Amino acid sequence: MRKKIIAGNWKMNTTPDEGVDLALKIYSFLSNYNLDQNCKVILGVPFTHIDRIIQKVDSSKIAIAAQNCSQFDSGAYTGEISVKMVKNLGANYIIIGHSERRQYFSENNELLAIKLRQCYNNNINPIYCCGETLSERDSNRHFEIVKEQIIESFKDISESEMLNTIIAYEPVWAIGTGRTATPSQAQEMHNYIRLIIKDLFNQIVADEVSILYGGSVNSANASELFKCADIDGGLVGGASLKPDDFINIIKSAK
Ligand code: PGA
Repeated sequence: MRKKIIAGNWKMNTTPDEGVDLALKIYSFLSNYNLDQNCKVILGVPFTHIDRIIQKVDSSKIAIAAQNCSQFDSGAYTGEISVKMVKNLGANYIIIGHSERRQYFSENNELLAIKLRQCYNNNINPIYCCGETLSERDSNRHFEIVKEQIIESFKDISESEMLNTIIAYEPVWAIGTGRTATPSQAQEMHNYIRLIIKDLFNQIVADEVSILYGGSVNSANASELFKCADIDGGLVGGASLKPDDFINIIKSAK
């Protein structure tokens, strides 16, 4: 049975002090909450916060994700952070290919395939983001774009590596805009992504991979989205910075 996952993406927000406070608020809620065994909470925090938050929360309640990594192993790449470094701090996930990285840092599918390979080689689970822009949807190319992103990024990966991957469908037009995809638009794409995984691997793998929806998820729309058959939770940006909202989103995951 595939996992339900509620993942926060804090992006470049909060100082480490503020981040520890935010994580502790969510942790204190989870410490007294009977979270379904099949449900997982992940916080995607800035690199600078990982160590301090991991020291303060029990990883069985909150897992930590980095938001990016270098495509290189180690060496003369000033300012970069390797997967090994992230792993050594105790984080178990890395968000790969967020649309903001594609848009502002020119990350393309070819580069993302290398970053995914780094994750698998270091036993860290990628949360791979895909999704179309507004003009791509308006010109009815959204299926084609998402298929291309997945096929080009997931070249040469094994079945077990795919099973250690989380996919997040995040239509770019819905990120930070307050304009959420409707549950039927999201479900349609999630179902399509599962078909792509089936074609690349097989039905068993397709049925096991968690596919999260991201893009203006909030406490008002989460439960409708999470009820959809192929939506296994959310990657939450803005609302993950507000503890009460994020907690309500966690409560929507049943
Ligand atoms: P949002 O961001 O929830 O603020 O739209 C989602 C994301 O970028 O992962």
